[in-house]
Amino acid sequence: MTIAASDLKTRYDVQNESTKTALETTLLDPRFYTTDFDEMDRIDVSPVREEWDALIAQMKADPRKGHFKRTEDWDEIDFDAYDPELRKELVDFLISSLTAEFSGCVLYKEMKRRGSNPDICELFGYMSRDESRHASFINDALKDFGIGVNMGFLAKAKKYTYFKPKFIYYATYLSEKIGYARYITIYRHLEQHPELRIHPIFKWFKEWCNDEFSHGEAFALLMRTDPKLLSGRNVYWIKFFLLAVFATMHVRDHARPAFHKAMGIDIDDYDDKVFRITSEITRQVFPIELDLDNPALKRRFTKMVGISRNIEAAERAGGIIGKLRKGFWMGAAGLNFAGLYMIPTKKNEIPEVSRLEPVW
Ligand SMILES: [Fe+2]
Ligand SMILES: [Fe+2]
Repeated sequence: MTIAASDLKTRYDVQNESTKTALETTLLDPRFYTTDFDEMDRIDVSPVREEWDALIAQMKADPRKGHFKRTEDWDEIDFDAYDPELRKELVDFLISSLTAEFSGCVLYKEMKRRGSNPDICELFGYMSRDESRHASFINDALKDFGIGVNMGFLAKAKKYTYFKPKFIYYATYLSEKIGYARYITIYRHLEQHPELRIHPIFKWFKEWCNDEFSHGEAFALLMRTDPKLLSGRNVYWIKFFLLAVFATMHVRDHARPAFHKAMGIDIDDYDDKVFRITSEITRQVFPIELDLDNPALKRRFTKMVGISRNIEAAERAGGIIGKLRKGFWMGAAGLNFAGLYMIPTKKNEIPEVSRLEPVW
């Protein structure tokens, strides 16, 4: 088979375009992080040694070693037959998932490379191994669309956000646990409705979410090595991250209406389930949780979706007016977030032993 030069050029452009999509950094896109690796390297895990060793042994055994490969379960689907909007949102979902997985891979790998603490290096080595598999598996799936993300280039060109180690713990712990909750919720839904499985990759989510679950466990243990991280003034930060991570997820999901509709997923229902699963898990470490039954919380999350649409419209409009409008709506987002922050949280007693197993 010969490929026409014009076809090659189109493929090249599409690849560039998807790398560009993955490179974009807006408030909502998956970010790349850097931190004070020396401070992280000084963590002493002896207060949680028993749980730590059990978790590391599990990661070392590498139970999902051969999982991230295409098998005969990988259904051949003609994606060109999909409605263009669905196809676009599906690709966008894959690219943004890949970026998130790869961002974890880069951060964890860097920690392993820079550290000298054997406990920390071993953990981060296993976690970067897992995230690298996840990212590569998604990149392979993108080939079906004739596109691919150049990950080496992405690692060099993407902007990095500096976060203090404690913020990395809160944000990464939450994104690992929310990742678990999202993957398992989609998996369960499609298990009930296999006819709505718009992409074969969802069949891999059951095993996949176990990796994210244990990564989250690792961060839970890291936080428990220092009780100060989970008390006092830091509880204000925990609240901030809970709200920011939940609100971001809600806004992002609402940006993909065709994708969710095709799978028969009601976004509000789905997000509510994911919030509840995540909230229940985070009781293992966080002394507070969001009051998910408070209608004001839901109202403000919904409001954030509308505001974010207005910000996007202002960006598209461009020019001075566009900039002014964007500024206005960014202010509205800030105020709405402040409103979210004012909603009281619920108290939680952190249990003595934190180790959890995934719930099915
Ligand atoms: Fe992952
Ligand atoms: Fe992970």
